Amino acid sequence: MKKKIILTGDSPTYNKLHIGHYFGSIKKRIKYQKKNKLYLIIADNQAISNEKNIDIINKNILEITIEYLALGINTKYTNIFVQSKIPELNEFYTFFLNFVNYNFLIKNPTIKKELKNKKINNLGFITYPVSQAADILSFLSDYTIVGKDQIPIIEQVNKISKRVNNFLGKNYFKKCKIINGNKNTIMGIYGKNKMSKSLNNSININSTDKEISKIVNKIYTDPNRIKKNIPGNYKNNMVFKYLSLFSYNTSKLKKEYLNGNISDCYTKKILKERILDFLVPIKKKINEYRKNIDFILEILKKGTEKSRSVVCKNLEKFKKNFGKSIF
Ligand code: TRP
Repeated sequence: MKKKIILTGDSPTYNKLHIGHYFGSIKKRIKYQKKNKLYLIIADNQAISNEKNIDIINKNILEITIEYLALGINTKYTNIFVQSKIPELNEFYTFFLNFVNYNFLIKNPTIKKELKNKKINNLGFITYPVSQAADILSFLSDYTIVGKDQIPIIEQVNKISKRVNNFLGKNYFKKCKIINGNKNTIMGIYGKNKMSKSLNNSININSTDKEISKIVNKIYTDPNRIKKNIPGNYKNNMVFKYLSLFSYNTSKLKKEYLNGNISDCYTKKILKERILDFLVPIKKKINEYRKNIDFILEILKKGTEKSRSVVCKNLEKFKKNFGKSIF
């Protein structure tokens, strides 16, 4: 059977992946990479819409690649590539711009929110679902793997591809199906917003043991529980939520907590141990890769070269389909 094409990726606006990224999407990418063809985009062009410091973006490209590899992305199956190194993606992008209007774009909840807060309002940002359509459709992708917050964008991508299909008079692009990284958005340590580096509520993959300890101590538990023997509420308690993510069987712990037998200190201690155990081999690999940046660059170059050849082939084919060439 022909392998399915999956395209997904990250924007290098943050320099550290966090456990929200891991459980929200990367874990599924690792699972799916063997049986499918996975392309991982590091969207450095898209990143400029909200990060104008190119040195930061370039540094983050390397960091994200290192973290992908340390977490289990295997370049035997997966091509990791840099968006700006495939200029042909922009041809799809500008072409697709002809199929959207402003009102369509600002319906996207992320864009709507930023515009309302008057935070980011450049056209690169407002049109980023179109750029994402270019990323996905230029590979003729069958699937993408994204966290819950990215779903509205993929729905817009599918609307754009339908409009282009209409224009072409045939079902040229298939619907890109969503593999949902995780049923629920992974929330930050205060339980209010999604886990995000910029909100300072994330447990980062590449933290020191001390940083992990500090951040775990800050996790929102049960505000009414000032003493250990007050029956605890584990429902909106982020410690219990994270423990389940790390496959910890919480049923016994919940009972003890409810009965006021164990303290928040105790549940946090268990969580810390779980996180640290999980991170030991990953951090070891991160440190090894960091010493070998040439190797990382080689991986990016090879991944980009292979990906670019696919995009070029698909672009040629796409243009032929509606005779866009006078000579
Ligand atoms: N917007 C995504 C992020 O910020 C990155 C991205 C760019 C992407 N193009 C994509 C994700 C295509 C999935 C499919 O993380």
